[in-house]
Amino acid sequence: MKLRSIKDKIYFLGAIDWDRRLFDALIPLPDGTSYNAYLIEGSEKTVLLDTVDPTMTNVLLSQLEDVKNIDYIVCHHVEQDHSGAIPSVLEKYGSAKVVISTRGKDMLIDHLHIPEERIITVEDGEILSLGDKTLKFIYTPWVHWPETMSTYLLEDKIIFTCDFFGSHLATNELYGTDKSRVYEAAKRYYAEIMMPFRTNIQKNLEKIKDLDISIIAPSHGPLYKDPNFIIDAYKDWASDIPKNIVVIPYISMHNSTKIMVEYLVSALTERDIKVERFDLSSVDLGKLAMSLVDAGTVIIGTPTVLVGPHPNVVYAVYLFNALRPKTRYLSVIGSYGWGGRAIEYLKGMLTNVKLELLEPVLVKGLPKKDDLKALDKLADIVAEKHKEFSN
Ligand code: FEO
Repeated sequence: MKLRSIKDKIYFLGAIDWDRRLFDALIPLPDGTSYNAYLIEGSEKTVLLDTVDPTMTNVLLSQLEDVKNIDYIVCHHVEQDHSGAIPSVLEKYGSAKVVISTRGKDMLIDHLHIPEERIITVEDGEILSLGDKTLKFIYTPWVHWPETMSTYLLEDKIIFTCDFFGSHLATNELYGTDKSRVYEAAKRYYAEIMMPFRTNIQKNLEKIKDLDISIIAPSHGPLYKDPNFIIDAYKDWASDIPKNIVVIPYISMHNSTKIMVEYLVSALTERDIKVERFDLSSVDLGKLAMSLVDAGTVIIGTPTVLVGPHPNVVYAVYLFNALRPKTRYLSVIGSYGWGGRAIEYLKGMLTNVKLELLEPVLVKGLPKKDDLKALDKLADIVAEKHKEFSN
């Protein structure tokens, strides 16, 4: 891929990682991803915004073959998928300096061993002139790391946001024409890394709300010509009020828990509550994370294994606790063979989230009539609690 022009003297470059299927050895990438970099040629100075994952350094260097000089490399975020090629770019351009937030400087030295004398720090709101083009740096921290900033190009009204507004989506379209596909990929990305920092995301949205923006240019996935499309989506995802949705992550060993889940899904459906149900024996964790963005209630379905919850449930609850969704209510249903302490175990894991625990429904063996009645009661309670939420 060669440099692609976005506007006069502003170029899109970077690498499309079509085949990558896992990020951070954890996050599924069903649609691959991209590492976007941008080149801006001012009348006096040239700047590269972000680089690429170290595995794709050669792609970036080949794009820079005809670029004679780079004065600055703006590092919005130190994580290696954007900063990994900085050492190679610094080597190619011997007088280039890395521009980074004050918090990012030490991180850049720690993670990439960049010599201190090649780093310039900028404050929140600081301006850097490229001659006829002007960059304004806007701190947008905790888009999952603390040092992250964005760059606003004043004359062209483009904001470069790195992970913020990004999506793990490999496409050769500069702007995503399939809006629903972009929406899903961006929501997946928000859910996987930004959801725990929801209040910081709200602050960052507030911070950019008065900017006149014509294009949002993130460092993953396509750019946005219609900034409100993604800004409004973020406002919704990061809002404090969940939706009338129950998410049921479950697993079943001898079918008892599954019978309970199926009964509960029907009971919730009769009460006009949307349900998203995930069998944890074959779940896409990204999809589960996405469903948690809006969930008013989570009901965990688990059998008892060796006195505790099933290990797949432990994994899912660990992620739930780490992702800290805005979910207000949680309950547990399931069965056991002869005894156990699954509820106590799960309660002990929920250290990061503030929510109300609804009375669990645990049964010995196959569920009986009274057990199903208890599920009806649980559905009634959820319906009552959800009256305050929108659909
Ligand atoms: Fe795309 Fe946090 O790196």
